[in-house]
Amino acid sequence: MKIIICGCGPGSPDYLAQAVHREVAGAAVLIGAQRLLDLFPASGAEKIPVGADIDGILRIIENCWRQQRVVVLVTGDPGISSLAQPVLNRFGRDACFLIPGISSVQVAFARLGLDWTDAKIIDAHGKNPEYDPDDLGKEKKLAILGGRQEASAWVQSCCRRWGDDYQLFCCENLTLPGERISEVTPEDLDSSALSSLTVFLLIRRDCL
Ligand SMILES: C[S@@+](CC[C@H](N)C(=O)[O-])C[C@H]1O[C@@H](n2cnc3c(N)ncnc32)[C@H](O)[C@@H]1O
Repeated sequence: MKIIICGCGPGSPDYLAQAVHREVAGAAVLIGAQRLLDLFPASGAEKIPVGADIDGILRIIENCWRQQRVVVLVTGDPGISSLAQPVLNRFGRDACFLIPGISSVQVAFARLGLDWTDAKIIDAHGKNPEYDPDDLGKEKKLAILGGRQEASAWVQSCCRRWGDDYQLFCCENLTLPGERISEVTPEDLDSSALSSLTVFLLIRRDCL
């Protein structure tokens, strides 16, 4: 039996793939954040809500995946900063089957009507990235997973270093009630209380 890892999109049921519904319907055990479990109210599977304790989550999977069909739910796409990576590291790629989901990054670019082939994606969700801001300042488009005050401060410091070259957008609660896309200045970040679900887009002005 394989561990099924499903990308559940940015939050709205409208952005969930049919393939995910099929896997969830066949699951004996569903593991994921409560807000993802809530996307499947009709599922009769055992639902195990999990938080940030990755070792604890891996232990839960270890105890059941050989006997039961386990489906792990992740936000957005499994390939972008998700629980999929520790599960793949622990159990190996052959033991897992991944179903892609619509990433918050995709939605953010779609909302601005921009191609993202040349975008660099940066994870500042759990901790601040270790990139040299001067290197990043050569990129045309940056998508930064934020949602913490420290991440906003990091974005602000990058913008200050690059002067006026980029336009900054905050994309909050994408696909959810309260979705908001705002064009802001770095100074605005001092006073904005951003959602914990925020993607920053930094776009070179000549790409807009
Ligand atoms: C652990 S990462 C998961 C990213 C996910 N795998 C993806 O592809 O979107 C969590 C971060 O994703 C972003 N995110 C997830 N859902 C979002 C939403 N509905 N609106 C805005 N940002 C979201 C936020 O930056 C949040 O801090």
